[in-house]
Amino acid sequence: MAAQRSPTGAPPAAGKPWSGRFSEPVSDLVKRFTASVSFDQRLAEFDIDGSIAHARMLQAAGIIAADDLVAIEGGLAQIRGEIRAGTFVWSLDLEDVHLNIEKRLTDLVGDAGKRLHTARSRNDQVATDIRLYLRAAIDHIVHQIRALQGALLDLAEQHADTVMPGFTHLQVAQPVTFAHHLMAYYEMLARDASRYADCRKRVNRLPLGAAALAGTSYPIDRLMVAKLLEFDGVCENSLDAVSDRDFAIEFCACASLTMTHLSRCCEELILWMSPRYAFIDIADRFCTGSSIMPQKKNPDVAELIRGKTGRVNGHLVALLTLMKGQPLAYNKDNQEDKEPLFDAIDTVSTSLAVFAEMVPGISVNRDAMRAAAAQGFATATDLADYLVRKGLPFREAHEVVAQAVRFCAGRHCDLADLALPELQQFSRLIGEDAYAALTLEGALNARSHIGGTAPARVKSAIAKARKALK
Ligand code: ARG
Repeated sequence: MAAQRSPTGAPPAAGKPWSGRFSEPVSDLVKRFTASVSFDQRLAEFDIDGSIAHARMLQAAGIIAADDLVAIEGGLAQIRGEIRAGTFVWSLDLEDVHLNIEKRLTDLVGDAGKRLHTARSRNDQVATDIRLYLRAAIDHIVHQIRALQGALLDLAEQHADTVMPGFTHLQVAQPVTFAHHLMAYYEMLARDASRYADCRKRVNRLPLGAAALAGTSYPIDRLMVAKLLEFDGVCENSLDAVSDRDFAIEFCACASLTMTHLSRCCEELILWMSPRYAFIDIADRFCTGSSIMPQKKNPDVAELIRGKTGRVNGHLVALLTLMKGQPLAYNKDNQEDKEPLFDAIDTVSTSLAVFAEMVPGISVNRDAMRAAAAQGFATATDLADYLVRKGLPFREAHEVVAQAVRFCAGRHCDLADLALPELQQFSRLIGEDAYAALTLEGALNARSHIGGTAPARVKSAIAKARKALK
């Protein structure tokens, strides 16, 4: 038997703003499968901001009346209040954040609410909401990066003279200062911040006005809406405006790099906290114990940040894959952009927050760092450089020192432990003054050019960074 029809012909059970041409409602399973309200409700306030700007433009362009605008703004203000208070009732039947808010608005203010969607589609609406949301997220993340950079500078300032081994291939290579090592991460984060700022330029373009895909027949003023929403400009092609999510992909690439940087640093903290290194300790409030091994203190926070990098990388690949097969213009596939994007934002943001809090909880074992630097022939290159200064070609100097290192390794001693005649077996060019080149401080101070590890140079790098952060 045919379902009973309402006067407009829509089946009563369908009840969606788009269901007029359908003869039966979607099945419960499909309703749950296609709904996005459970995750896109976090766009709500941006959806409201977008709607207010759109309504103001509609009124200014003579498309809706002034009293409609008053009613719409009043209704949306009330809805914002309900959402903030947690009293707004979200309905799965209403599919997504946009239809939920529109329905509530219509319940509150009647026909004016029904006029809001004039010259607009959910396609340009959702693209606008995501961009507004992401713009705010980027601003927050950049702020967090700067806070973390500040924390690294605080720690670096205390360790401009703290010697540690610098590693290549995880083998002791040359001495560096701990401050210099920390400043490497400062630099990575500085590039991250500038990458987000660059990404933001492409995020900050207004899709509204593209409507479903082709634009709209109403005399809209897109520039006015862009200005109201503080966009830098409008998306120049309506098909592109509603369909591409490259800005979200780009953000995820930025987020992946930030996580990669944090992860590398976490990896080092984890190694350094191991008793095999004992370079640092991390305050108890950032560590956890083991329920079976009473002696354990584990650097869980650092491990989790390292682990969470994987999911952000995954979100980047998810979004790239989501996009790659889509014909123009909007496809429902794009509803899948939100969860990866939101989770990438959440993950990078909480990781930055907890990392910044953990940095002041790092205590440094200067003696262990110094002892490790003193053990691994970290100044061998300096002896080679000394021989070069005495006139030996570098390749030969390298060979001479390699022989000396081999000799020391057999004796379990360091180069500086050899008496002068012993050193001179390897080259007659070696004199008493070679010992100065073999000290850790000598090696550090010798590298005083821009970007080098000499304490004086690192101190000025820190000062410069401080200024840049202000
Ligand atoms: N929830 C949808 C999304 O996230 C909103 C746009 C839906 N548009 C449409 N024509 N079905 O993409």
